[in-house]
Amino acid sequence: MVMACEETHAALVTAGAPTDFAHATDQFRRDELVHVELCESLLRELGEPASCDEPLAPAVVASDLPPFWFAAEQVVRHFCVGEALSVPLLHAAWRHATHPRIKLVLRRIITDEAAHGQFGWSFLDWARPALDAQVRAHLGRVAAAAIADLREVWDTPTTAWTTTFVREALGRFVLEPLRARGIIPID
Ligand SMILES: [Fe+2]
Repeated sequence: MVMACEETHAALVTAGAPTDFAHATDQFRRDELVHVELCESLLRELGEPASCDEPLAPAVVASDLPPFWFAAEQVVRHFCVGEALSVPLLHAAWRHATHPRIKLVLRRIITDEAAHGQFGWSFLDWARPALDAQVRAHLGRVAAAAIADLREVWDTPTTAWTTTFVREALGRFVLEPLRARGIIPID
């Protein structure tokens, strides 16, 4: 998610979006770095090999799309789908966790992630006057592709509650808010 924040930040700056949005995504990037450190530290404590880090190559933003379209695409992919869905999943993981240290780390991450999960909707509400039918159709395809990528992950659940919970969370926290903004995730 560090890279996703970097890419979205760069796209927002290139598109000339309000600085509030650019600052927020930069803060989210810093949050995600802290979360990686927290996870690595927890894994070391538990005697597990650290595996939740991700490569930190500089974000490369290149697209043939108009800058605003590309920025909106990044926001929808990473925030309206990815982050909006991760918030209820983190809450569920916290509820199911029994180890006190795992619960504590999840609580810390959840505290930061609430803002990450709301960001996409704030952006789309600001951008609404510019979201004509053509842009909304494009964003619907972007959302559908992002959901399909996630589906590959949750169709191989590691715990029994995962699949049902993810489907319900997807409907409530991703599909409904997208549809309320005229964005229909279809291929
Ligand atoms: Fe996040």
